[in-house]
Formats: sequence, C-alpha cells, structure tokens
Amino acid sequence: MIYLNNAATSFPKPKEVKDAVVASFDYPLVHSSRTGFEREEEDIAYLCRVRLADLFNVEDPLRIVFTSGSTEALNLAIKGLSLDGSNVVITAIEHNSVIRPVKTLEKEGKISVTIVECNKNGYVYPEQIEKSIRDNTRAVIVNHCSNVTGAVLDLEKIAKIVHSRGAYLIVDASQSAGAIQIDCKNWDIDLLAFTGHKSLFGLQGIGGLYIKEGIELKPLKVGGTGILSEILLQPEGVPIHYEAGTPNRPGIISLYAGVQFILNTGLEKILEHKKKLYQILFDELEGNEDIEIYSPRENTSYSNFCFNVKKMVPEEVGYMLESSFDIYVRTGLHCAPLMLPYLGVAPWGTVRASHSYFTTEEEIYKFTDAIKKIALVTKKI
Ligand SMILES: Cc1ncc(COP(=O)(O)O)c(C=O)c1O
Repeated sequence: MIYLNNAATSFPKPKEVKDAVVASFDYPLVHSSRTGFEREEEDIAYLCRVRLADLFNVEDPLRIVFTSGSTEALNLAIKGLSLDGSNVVITAIEHNSVIRPVKTLEKEGKISVTIVECNKNGYVYPEQIEKSIRDNTRAVIVNHCSNVTGAVLDLEKIAKIVHSRGAYLIVDASQSAGAIQIDCKNWDIDLLAFTGHKSLFGLQGIGGLYIKEGIELKPLKVGGTGILSEILLQPEGVPIHYEAGTPNRPGIISLYAGVQFILNTGLEKILEHKKKLYQILFDELEGNEDIEIYSPRENTSYSNFCFNVKKMVPEEVGYMLESSFDIYVRTGLHCAPLMLPYLGVAPWGTVRASHSYFTTEEEIYKFTDAIKKIALVTKKI
C-alpha cells in the first residue's frame, strides 16, 4: 500500500509514538488526585504542553489547553470569545470546522460573516483581509495552511493588520502544526487551534488551543477536574478552566512522543524531505496536458499536491488509484467548500495526494507513473 492521505491523518506514526502508547497499558493512567494542570515535571500532560510550547514558541506552556482536536479547539475559540453583535471575517480557504460554527452563529442572528477571497492556488492576500475588516469586526479567522492546496498564509503580516483594527486573530493550524514553522510569540497570535493526528504524529482525538495571555474564553464544557472539588463552579485559570472531564491521556502520551520526535528530528529536516518529494511531483506532472495542478510552487507546506486529471471526476481517479495501484489519496471537496469557485473545480472538487516524512521517493515515482497511466485513459474517452 502507498499511503498519500497524510493531510487527513498521518500514517505511519513514528515507532516512538507506538512504543509510548503501548507502554501506557502497563501502568494505571490515574493518580490519587488528578494532576496535569500544574507545572509538575513528572506529569505527561505538563511535559506535552512544554514540548508543544517549544514547537510553537509559546512562553507559558500552561496557556496550551487540550481538546479533542482542532474542531473542538476552534469551537472553543469562536464560541468562547463574546462575539455577539459583531462581524467575523473568515477566508475562502477555511475548513468546515470554522465555516459551520460561524455560519451557525450567523443563522442565529448573533454575528455577521464576511468571506475573503483566495487566488486560484488557495492563497489569501493579507491586503484582501485588510479590505474586508469593518469597524465592528471583532475576530478574523484564518487557515494557516490550506488543507486542499497546501498554500501557506503570511500570519505575521495578517496579525499586524488584524491587531491594528482592534480584532482578535484566530488561527487554524491543523495542517501547519508539525509541518512548518509556527511562532506564536513573535507573530503575536491570539488563539491557535491544532490537531494531534496529522503532522504532529499523535493519535486521533487529541489536539489543543493556545490562548494568549490576557484572553479569557467562556469554556465549552464544565465539570469534574479531579482537584478543587469543593468549588461549585468551574475553577478559574489556565488550563483547568477549559479541561473538564477525564483527559485523553493515551492521546496526550502519543502527542508528547510525536512532538518529541519532531523536535529530535528537526522540523527543517522533515520539511526538506517533503520539499524534495514535492519537487518530484511537479517535475513529473507539471506540463502534462491531461493534468491540471492547483497547488502552488511557493508559499506552501510542500505536503499537499492538489490536482485533477482532465475529463475525469476526482472520485474516478481515486477509485482507479486504489483499485489498480493500491495507492490511497483523498478526493472531493476536502471539507473546504468555499474554495471550489476560486479553483474552478465545482462541483466535484479535486484529488489530493499528501505525503509525509515517511513517504519515499520510490513511492512518489510509483504514484506519478500511475497518474500518467490513468491520464492516458482520457485519450480514449
Ligand atoms: C484545515 C483543517 N481544519 C480543521 C480540521 C479538523 O481537525 P479535527 O477533525 O482533527 O478536529 C482539519 C482536519 O481535516 C483541517 O484540515
């Protein structure tokens, strides 16, 4: 099997991740009183926050709260800020985990939503965002890296624009976390949502939200924390205010091991490998008259190769790759329906091949050969 669907969920995971999760079956995942909210060097939850803080350049690790993934983190950010009566700006490259929460609030009459256009590669110009901000805009939400084309936005520039207009910047880092550099401190990010099971190499069901010092959110859920049980309301402070319920410790353990793997290997080295594979994809398929490529050459995570075989719907290509070549990609809209008109791919969407640090050059050549063979079929149509 050749797995090229890492933008959905990464496979395989580093051996270290598997070993850490398997080892967790050999000891109880509870303490006499619940920990994980404090700076306890022995505690895996704290250690995981520390590693994430290293990766995202966050000063205080306790400002990273765990969630079940980006979807929950984005819901917490969007519903936790008091946005009622305001305008919210999003971009055309957003995932449904942003589109649906804001559209729901809009339907309830609580906010208005402005959508900023993208170019034909899924890039959103900071100047376009600037033009869309109104006097009553309280939050701007951007996808750092398109899960469709891989286009990467200039967060530093966008943050400056957003803050100069007095709004919050919420970042969806689902695709960029563990793939490319993120610098919460120097870029001055307010809220950053990430998921553990993609480039961070963790299990599904773990992720988190970085909340900048000074920002307070209404929690999505309240309940048991294992400590401070005498308090009848959700205890204040980070991360406890946002982490009611038994934590997903197997997920946290996997995330810790995944982030540790990235830090030990080096983000640059991981990116270099993906860049080399990305180059091969372009060298082999660009200029082929039967193939249309939507991913950009530059300003990209070098992880997503988004294309179509002309005269074929993406599903057909995916089916042929799977059934005849044992190659697994993702086809369709990729939960990002607002992008379709900008890429010119309505209503069927695209094929997305997403490689990882563990994908080999040989696998990429097998994939490009398979695509060329499938493209030949169109000659007979
Ligand atoms: C850009 C983007 N945002 C949000 C999500 C949602 O992540 P999760 O399903 O892990 O919560 C994804 C996952 O596909 C994504 O690619």
